[in-house]
Amino acid sequence: MNSNLFPQGFVWGTATAAYQTEGAWDRDGKGISIWDTFSHTPGKVENGDTGDVACNFYNLYKEDIKLMKSLGYKAFRMSISWPRVFPEGIGEVNKKGIKFYRKVLKELKDNDIITTVTLYHWDLPQALQDKGGWESRKTAEAFSEYADLCFKEFGDLVDYWITFNEPFVTAFPGYLFGNMAPGIKDMNAALLTVHNLNLAHGLAVKKFRKYDFNSKIGTANCRSWAVPDNLQSPSDIYAARYADEMYYFSFMDPVMLGQYPSSYYETICRFKLNIVISKEDLEIISQKIDFIGLNYYTRMLIRYDKKAPLGFSEAKGPLEKTEMDNEVYPDGLYYILKDLNKRYGSVPIYITENGRATTDKVVDSKIDDLDRIKYLKQHFEVSAKAIKEGVNLKGYFVWSFMDNFEWAHGYTKRFGLVYVDYKNQKRIPKASAYWYSKFIRESS
Ligand code: FCB
Repeated sequence: MNSNLFPQGFVWGTATAAYQTEGAWDRDGKGISIWDTFSHTPGKVENGDTGDVACNFYNLYKEDIKLMKSLGYKAFRMSISWPRVFPEGIGEVNKKGIKFYRKVLKELKDNDIITTVTLYHWDLPQALQDKGGWESRKTAEAFSEYADLCFKEFGDLVDYWITFNEPFVTAFPGYLFGNMAPGIKDMNAALLTVHNLNLAHGLAVKKFRKYDFNSKIGTANCRSWAVPDNLQSPSDIYAARYADEMYYFSFMDPVMLGQYPSSYYETICRFKLNIVISKEDLEIISQKIDFIGLNYYTRMLIRYDKKAPLGFSEAKGPLEKTEMDNEVYPDGLYYILKDLNKRYGSVPIYITENGRATTDKVVDSKIDDLDRIKYLKQHFEVSAKAIKEGVNLKGYFVWSFMDNFEWAHGYTKRFGLVYVDYKNQKRIPKASAYWYSKFIRESS
């Protein structure tokens, strides 16, 4: 494909998250997170895998950044582990944690790599979970204190801040389906969590605006293109719209439009939940942000299912599948980009995650992950088309720089451009890593 289809200055990067890569789960004063607890609970993660060591980025960050630099990746998205800087979530600061992140960010800057930092990529301090977690408004307030500390300590080294990564995963898999940390199954808790996460986002943005940084702030939500499984079925058609509203617009609409979609209120009424949303909260949540982060992987075929907690479930589609059993559907990214542009105007958009898992085999020290190259190419192509048609897309972060701990799937799924041999922590760039490197070089 033609790399000149992207404008000059387009930000090409890769993404990771703290719990998935750092390891050092109990080192240098770090507190326990809900993912430490969850992964240490038998039966929660495939093969009993944990993030205790992960990619050992905590110790290997210099080598990893060097590799990133040599591949010519221009930007890096990472996250901060909240319990590494605030072991108890609030109160006493862990100086060693601050030192670690300053070292990493400095190393990136010294290598001319644009820094993007996510404040919350799912690893809530366990101490705050014990006090009510995201069901409690106090957690939103604690988050804004944590965010404030990060702005103060790292603000000079960060180009882009992302408040939350995919808050829908915390609210639904985390608090309703129970298959992600903290593993709770409670409708009232889930819908309260939606609101408290949104509130936390708004409070943090307010703190950020007190500073005079040259950096930008946004949030990263995941949207899958929602399609009714049976286009002849009114209930499937309704369910698809409902799923899109619950998973995506319950987070983006309050931020961008200052209101929840009707499905959110409808669910509160249907389940007679004890949740009241005030006008003041919506004002806090709808602080202006500088960009929208979009994570895109696939489409979802939705059907009405009265036995499912929210009244819908996902059907298996006919298209080619990735190792995650996701359909490969690049057009969905195009439709979403166009749709966001129409709904929210020309706010800058960054694709903050996109990529696929593949079955990678090391043959003669090489990994020929042609499926990943094809996938990225197809998604770059539709992105270029959207830009041509006026979508204000400014950057792209491939998930992921390297293979890592894939949450409840443990180490069974490999998303990296760089292969990680977990036995000896050796990194081997895959064919896709070189392909991406060449693509960036030719487009700059
Ligand atoms: C996203 C997560 C990210 C990673 C990818 C594969 O939902 O944000 O951490 O696990 O999926």
